[in-house]
Amino acid sequence: MSGNKTISGFSKLSKAGKIKWIVENFFRDPEHVMRELKSYWYHDDEQQRLLDGFSENTICNFPMPYGVAPNFLINGRLYVVPMVIEESSVVAAASSSANFWLSRGGFKAETLGLKKVGQVHFTWNGKAQKLKSVFGELQTVLRKDTAAFTANMEKRGGGALGIELIDLTHLEAGYYQLKATFDTRDSMGANFINSVLEQYARTLERFLATHPVFDQSEREVTIIMSILSNYTPGCLARATVECRVDELGKFPGGMDAATFAHKFCKAVRIAHLDPHRATTHNKGIFNGIDAVVLATANDFRAVEACGHTYAARDGKYRSLSYCSVENGIFRFWLDIPLALGTVGGLTKLHPIARRSLELLGNPNAEELMMVVASAGLAQNFAALRSLVTTGIQQGHMKMHLANILNHFDADENEKTAAMAHFADKAVSFTAVREFLEKMRAHAEV
Ligand code: MEV
Repeated sequence: MSGNKTISGFSKLSKAGKIKWIVENFFRDPEHVMRELKSYWYHDDEQQRLLDGFSENTICNFPMPYGVAPNFLINGRLYVVPMVIEESSVVAAASSSANFWLSRGGFKAETLGLKKVGQVHFTWNGKAQKLKSVFGELQTVLRKDTAAFTANMEKRGGGALGIELIDLTHLEAGYYQLKATFDTRDSMGANFINSVLEQYARTLERFLATHPVFDQSEREVTIIMSILSNYTPGCLARATVECRVDELGKFPGGMDAATFAHKFCKAVRIAHLDPHRATTHNKGIFNGIDAVVLATANDFRAVEACGHTYAARDGKYRSLSYCSVENGIFRFWLDIPLALGTVGGLTKLHPIARRSLELLGNPNAEELMMVVASAGLAQNFAALRSLVTTGIQQGHMKMHLANILNHFDADENEKTAAMAHFADKAVSFTAVREFLEKMRAHAEV
């Protein structure tokens, strides 16, 4: 066994060949590891082939828990929200938040735009004014040359919305962009946008090479790259919860509603002032967002990257959520850019993602954005509620204890005894192991 082998042509090996090379070179017990990896394959070969086809060099599937949070009342409609997440307490927190708001009007959600952005980055050493003077003409050709790509999207009510020429030569010599906006309807739209942009780039090259306004020295352009931007502040969802302060009820430790509302809003305010806190605060929001985005096989890296840029849009990284208490009304809301799809990509190909969408009533992209934003807000509410009342550890430690008990294969009796024992004691791996050892030794005599 050696951990520093190289191999050429790994991708050309069969799946069995890849696994053989991996287990023989990197594991002490190849036979056992091979069996273990295979035990996570689908029994159905066709389903396994489908999953393998999503990626490359696959040797195994990686299981993640798939949970559901019921009782999400969003815009008057009840949802059971699917969540794929490995962190304990997240689904429980979302469910508890959903239950809390169920009797207080639920979540109100809306979308504030569906606009996506793509850019052709290029350098050109001609006279900017000349390019600007024929830009209208260029736009017409760009549209004509991409009509084959956009026709279908236009039929669905979307398409390419606008194209701008951005002169950034003050930042970098000769640097320009074609910046285009798109409406991709119910698809996330990455393939569509990138195909259109690559055609824009080819058209731009041809236009500059042939248009009579440019002289010989202006015919050369260097296309640096053509790619969508994952920053989509124009593809935004807002989720809100609100009720009268006195309807918030009582909180652990006898905290009254007004004190809770005050502390809660202060916690949100702190996340607007301090980037250290804002990062953790927004991480809590993404606990909910990512879980639903994953469950529906959407691109969680795109959603994360965009959300964090949006959180820093005024130059400082801040909370994505807001809170106010005015005229006796507690209001808590979240604005989040979400480039999601319910058609295309893996959304309908992944067998469980398809079920997630079915569970949500086969929403369109806008409805999914509203559900996802509500899940993020719910998560944020639950985290802050714990933080400003009991502290986060009480709930976390319960789940932590449950995980440790499972690790030691505790039976129901042992679990009940351990839960009671650790109700007022610090939970640690060692403490739980010693507790179980004592209990088991006692049971033997
Ligand atoms: C833990 O995954 C998320 C929290 O830290 C979020 C927060 O502090 O707001 C609890």
